[in-house]
Amino acid sequence: MKHSGLTVADDGNAISKGYMPGWANDFETEALPGALPIGMNSPQRCNYGLYGEQLSGTAFTANPPERTWCYRIRPSVKHSHRYEKIDLPYWKSAPCIDPDVISLGQYRWDPVEHTDKPLTWVTGMRTMTTAGDVNTQVGMASHVYLVNTSMVDDYFFSADSELLVVPQEGRLRFATELGIIDVEPKEIAIIPRGLVYRVEVLEGPCRGFVCENYGQKFELPGRGPIGANCMANPRDFKAPVAAYEDREVPSTVTMKWCGQFHVTKINQSPLDVVAWHGNYAPYKYDLRAYCPVGAILFDHPDPSIFTVLTAPSGHPGTANIDFVLFRERWMVMEDTFRPPWYHKNIMSELMGNIYGQYDAKPQGFVPGGMSLHNMMLPHGPDKEAFEKASNANLGPDKLDNTMSFMFETRFPQHLTGFAAKEAPLQDDYIDCWTDIEKKFDGTPGKK
Ligand SMILES: [Fe+2]
Repeated sequence: MKHSGLTVADDGNAISKGYMPGWANDFETEALPGALPIGMNSPQRCNYGLYGEQLSGTAFTANPPERTWCYRIRPSVKHSHRYEKIDLPYWKSAPCIDPDVISLGQYRWDPVEHTDKPLTWVTGMRTMTTAGDVNTQVGMASHVYLVNTSMVDDYFFSADSELLVVPQEGRLRFATELGIIDVEPKEIAIIPRGLVYRVEVLEGPCRGFVCENYGQKFELPGRGPIGANCMANPRDFKAPVAAYEDREVPSTVTMKWCGQFHVTKINQSPLDVVAWHGNYAPYKYDLRAYCPVGAILFDHPDPSIFTVLTAPSGHPGTANIDFVLFRERWMVMEDTFRPPWYHKNIMSELMGNIYGQYDAKPQGFVPGGMSLHNMMLPHGPDKEAFEKASNANLGPDKLDNTMSFMFETRFPQHLTGFAAKEAPLQDDYIDCWTDIEKKFDGTPGKK
């Protein structure tokens, strides 16, 4: 099977063409028959003259280790030569504290507009916030991407981070060492640290959000008393089948390493893995498969109940990053203020709107837009949302046509110069709470 210039495994076992189901499975896939060694990893000579190589996403001694054995046309050392530093001024890494920017505040942005300038996955990344420290592998960054141009003979990988990609407009193809992932709005992709890939525009222009995770990998959250089902189910995550290119053309590989960018020149496509097996792989996931669980009698639970993926910080229950989804769902709670309540949170919350209207903010938080409620800064419904929810006749009510998400981190998020000065910041966002009235006058029973 030919696909995007790559030769792809015609995998009869794949439930969805081109993908294999199951989060953190020990997958095996080959684009040519017999390319995978049987019963061992490192035979004296690999079939087809391939080179065996292990890609480790965790320390060797991690439990469980996450690693993938690749059988490739050339070992990766042939896809990496001398590096030159390059400047990508819009892609920032933590720590990145701009002395001219005030990160303390409640912020909201309109969608970052597309431009006529050709922008690829690498040049179109616009960092909004950073948190933690990329050098010590803690924290994260949030980005908006604006992509209208495919990478051609040009490849990228990040040694710094795993990328969680949340498309909002357009369709992208991630042609990776381990196979092809196509994503569109309402889906996400997870690209692991160290994986080489090229991004092509299938339908543009493309805009979306990226959470760059410097720390421990994303995993499925424990469901606790919810049990074995609902929320994100492992079978709905899909890893690609093997795909390779045998193409000898001058090419470049850009590498993100300790917050800096470097480029190396090679003479062939590095996407040359003919077969692989292991549990360190890219995934896609359809957010429409997420099964939300909520309150079915009264009160409004914490948003953690909508966690899709969590990246641990080493402190149990306190995530480096939670990826949280607010999607269509029924509201049935009796005698309850149903929207998110007013709160202050030690965690820092960056939200994005994929489509529709978010229940705590009927106006102003629009598809493609973002908001930031930083560490310990109060926020909650605006006056319109408060009054509507306080006076509604409560019956079963479906929140329809809505999909927003949150990148929530235990670390404060610092705005970049781009977020503060170039992106379409709504200067009046803080005013959305101005009209909230004092209702208290000491009269008991007053509501
Ligand atoms: Fe919040």
